[in-house]
Amino acid sequence: MKIINTVKELQLELKKQGKKSIGFVPTMGALHKGHIALMKQSIKENDLTVASIFVNPTQFNAKSDLDKYPRTLKADSEKLTKAKVDYLFAPSVKEVYPKGMKSKLKVNLKGLDKQLEGAFRPGHFEGVVQVVHRLLDIVKPTRLYMGQKDFQQFTIIGQMIKNLRMKVELVVVPIQRDKDGLALSSRNVRLTKAKRKWAPIIYQNLKKAKRQVGKKPIEELCAEVMVALGKPRGYKPEYFSIIDGHTLKEVKEWDDSDYLIGVTAVWAGEVRLIDNMILKKK
Ligand code: PAF
Repeated sequence: MKIINTVKELQLELKKQGKKSIGFVPTMGALHKGHIALMKQSIKENDLTVASIFVNPTQFNAKSDLDKYPRTLKADSEKLTKAKVDYLFAPSVKEVYPKGMKSKLKVNLKGLDKQLEGAFRPGHFEGVVQVVHRLLDIVKPTRLYMGQKDFQQFTIIGQMIKNLRMKVELVVVPIQRDKDGLALSSRNVRLTKAKRKWAPIIYQNLKKAKRQVGKKPIEELCAEVMVALGKPRGYKPEYFSIIDGHTLKEVKEWDDSDYLIGVTAVWAGEVRLIDNMILKKK
């Protein structure tokens, strides 16, 4: 695997490769098996795979969060080499956002960025859209790989691609879970032993919601799940909602949509965990 730090070098390298399909997996590093599943799918479906590691400052709400974000480039590049990724693009902030470059992108996200995660992390998705757009512009891939775990993120990026008529196919890879059901995330390592022990309740409650589709009233079910998710010591659910998978709007009746997703964010002590499950898709 070749590690490249500059836009110029990456573009030269990809040009040398000629007409080949390129799969692109953007990440912020601290790679786990969930990321590797994205890499593997890209390798299977494309001639070349480019992964990027860039801790994007514009998507963090708090400077302390940005500073605390794990930076594990050496271990990450070993994992990517093992997975047989062709290129790792690991640029500096200056390389991604050179002076004078227009920073904000005007994309009509149809309000997709305002609810759920957007309500709790103002400006976050603007930063994600900005960096993914910039990285796509640099790599010009055939396919872009993103994880289902960040449901709102890939929906917003899908909207950006559609809105700007970008020539890239978005591929969404299912959530990877630990044996007990906890969705894989770079944040999981920060869970204390006691908090980690209870973490499977998130998955259990998403499964419970799936079993209840069309049965219990949505409002009652969501209220029940909120109580259950707040039971373990130090657990505080921020939201548990059932939404339409296209608009991300809350659904009040089971028949209001053909594409229902259960979504949640829960504080487990100091760690904020998010998860989701497709409850119904026609
Ligand atoms: O999901 C992430 O890791 C980031 O939001 C992404 C898509 C790499 C953009 O910085």
